[in-house]
Amino acid sequence: MKIVIFGNGNVATHLGKAFFEAGHGILQVFGRNRARAQELATALEAKAVGGLAELDLTADLYLLAVPDEAIASLAERLPRLKGVVAHCSGATGLSVLGGLQDYGVIYPLQSITKSADLAIRTVPFAVEGNTGQTTALLLGLMRKISPRAFVCNSQQRLALHLAAVFANNFANALFQIAHEILQENGLPFDLLKPLILETAQKVQTHAPRDAQTGPAKRSDARTIRTHLDFIGKKNDRAEIYRLMTKVITNGE
Ligand SMILES: NC(=O)c1ccc[n+]([C@@H]2O[C@H](COP(=O)([O-])OP(=O)(O)OC[C@H]3O[C@@H](n4cnc5c(N)ncnc54)[C@H](OP(=O)(O)O)[C@@H]3O)[C@@H](O)[C@H]2O)c1
Repeated sequence: MKIVIFGNGNVATHLGKAFFEAGHGILQVFGRNRARAQELATALEAKAVGGLAELDLTADLYLLAVPDEAIASLAERLPRLKGVVAHCSGATGLSVLGGLQDYGVIYPLQSITKSADLAIRTVPFAVEGNTGQTTALLLGLMRKISPRAFVCNSQQRLALHLAAVFANNFANALFQIAHEILQENGLPFDLLKPLILETAQKVQTHAPRDAQTGPAKRSDARTIRTHLDFIGKKNDRAEIYRLMTKVITNGE
């Protein structure tokens, strides 16, 4: 397949390399700043381009690996293309590309960072196309990159994205609070790392509700009061603690 990649950030880098290694031809890497696109273009043996006037019109796939808020305006400015145009966003509907001929979505359900390694074959890719044929084309492409690629509609993809915010972003924010509590009390965050790993590992084999432990699960009112006294009133921690305790207790 001949592919043009828009963007040179986290997703563009990892997906671009995966396509390249799977034997696809990367024709161009498009960046608003050609110099910034050059590094990825070189790695993918592609041409770096900085303007839509230079866009290669012969590609089979145009991957828009650009920020969510840039997808609509970029799609509007694209010339008439024969190839499929796909964005990578979890929270952006398929219809944002509705003005194009053939379009779809390739959403990686993973936290992806340009500079960090990624085991791409473990990533579930949520794929959607505007027609059955486009969906099949994108699914076939992605299944070779990761056996965990699957078809899902825009509503399901939004639910996935929301669930990922709870599982990843919010969990990480709670790690941050834990980090601060330890730091304030002269203890290293390293002490919590085995517990964090165990928490993530246990949900690989148990439902989260079955894996839950702790004072809220045990309805241990005395310990909960002791914790709230320790927190005091100085920040959001008491509110978060009460709310999370309620979520755990109501889950019983
Ligand atoms: N990273 C993740 O964990 C992750 C996971 C799942 C899905 N996604 C989705 O993947 C897409 C890309 O995310 P990312 O993390 O790769 O973003 P990113 O690292 O910030 O990269 C975005 C790229 O888009 C280019 N860009 C920025 N504004 C643009 C504009 N107005 N027009 C054209 N190009 C523009 C930037 O390059 P220049 O500034 O050089 O033009 C940059 O290379 C988003 O839709 C995101 O929701 C990301």
